[in-house]
Amino acid sequence: MNSLISKKAKPLSGTARVPGDKSISHRALMFGALTIGETMISGLLEGEDVLHTAAAMRAMGAKVEKSADGLWRTYGVGIGGLRQPENPLEMGNSGTSARLLIGLVGGHPIRTTFTGDPSLSKRPMRRVMTPLEMMGATFTATNGDKLPLTVTGPEDTLAIEYRLPVASAQVKSAILLAGLNARGTTTVIETIPTRDHTENMLRHFGVDVETQILEDGAHAISLRGQQTLQPGAIDVPGDPSSAAFPAVAALLHSGSEIRLSNIGMGERRNGLYLTLREMGADITFQHERLQGGEKVADMLIRGTGPLKGIHVNPALVPSMIDEFPALAMAAACAQGTTVMTNLAELRVKESDRLLMVANGLKACGVHLEMGEDSLTIHGTGQPPKGGARIETALDHRIAMSFLVLGSATPEPITIDDGAPIKTSFPNFITLMNDLGCDIGPEHD
Ligand code: S3P
Repeated sequence: MNSLISKKAKPLSGTARVPGDKSISHRALMFGALTIGETMISGLLEGEDVLHTAAAMRAMGAKVEKSADGLWRTYGVGIGGLRQPENPLEMGNSGTSARLLIGLVGGHPIRTTFTGDPSLSKRPMRRVMTPLEMMGATFTATNGDKLPLTVTGPEDTLAIEYRLPVASAQVKSAILLAGLNARGTTTVIETIPTRDHTENMLRHFGVDVETQILEDGAHAISLRGQQTLQPGAIDVPGDPSSAAFPAVAALLHSGSEIRLSNIGMGERRNGLYLTLREMGADITFQHERLQGGEKVADMLIRGTGPLKGIHVNPALVPSMIDEFPALAMAAACAQGTTVMTNLAELRVKESDRLLMVANGLKACGVHLEMGEDSLTIHGTGQPPKGGARIETALDHRIAMSFLVLGSATPEPITIDDGAPIKTSFPNFITLMNDLGCDIGPEHD
């Protein structure tokens, strides 16, 4: 086990560039592999999750490689051109690889088996299986609706119209990816807008994707199948979900001043930063610009004293779904009560994040109440005492969140296993320590 310890730090200072956005990196490799020709990708996240996607695309016939200049290049096989992989596709810890690729191969007449680590093998896949079965795919799974599972795509993929029962960009994307190889127009309707990187990047590659707002306010996203993806260049912005960790760490220390450059700041991803500002955080967005269809900004974050507890706007939940563990650390140090609701999806992430956050914070001395889909945290305006050993259940964001909290608590915080951090933020420890944190192995 790679246990890590985080000791109390001084105020943070400096400039950092967090790794590339995980969602965009997966899509850049997948969509690049569906063009015919060369796609050049800069800023790709070289985390384990994304490397699983790269290996899967190779196993299905695409050329995916990192060049000596540090750029990644894909040479695609075209829509409909995916080859049946010889061996099961190993997805590791990566829900995004698994769900998006199940959609992609489910629209191709090939048979593919997916496997994953113990965390991914507990996560629900029924949400993608149901719409894909409607499109003609068939599944065999030995473990209910979980991995390992085998999907066989039909000869002729049916275009469907599907209203999402859960707010999930992964499910939306899985259906659209299967729809790429269907005859006719596939439409996904979402009542709650989720991250739109699939739509943005498909448009960037020349696919005609229409978004319409329906009478009831839902968004209908449609694409005609069998369009050609034109190869292009992708510049992946920094991941706002990774930026959450240095940002919260800076806010927990009065006197901090850090700059995080080139962060994706689209409105479907920026909920954490709007929420932290509402709690009184001094966060400024600078040089806002568009990069490959995505909004990007630099962030200046200053620690100016305790944040204040708030009732987090439930409408912002999808735009910060991965950031609740980090937000909970901020709430634990804030003055007053923070109420977070509509969090049912947190129970089916890399771990049951509601439970892992609640257990960990309680062990650190925080008063809180956990509901079925809510968390209420009572802060005192001071960091809690810390001094706990936190169970992380193969969840990178639980691991990083508690290391951030440990930078502020009087007693160090230890996490049981830091290995999963490599899935999304391989240089986390160096980057955080360069800003002033004191994170390292528990036993040298
Ligand atoms: C993602 C969508 C979200 C998010 C995940 C990445 C994506 O999952 O939690 O980390 O890239 O589409 P859900 O679709 O399950 O909400």
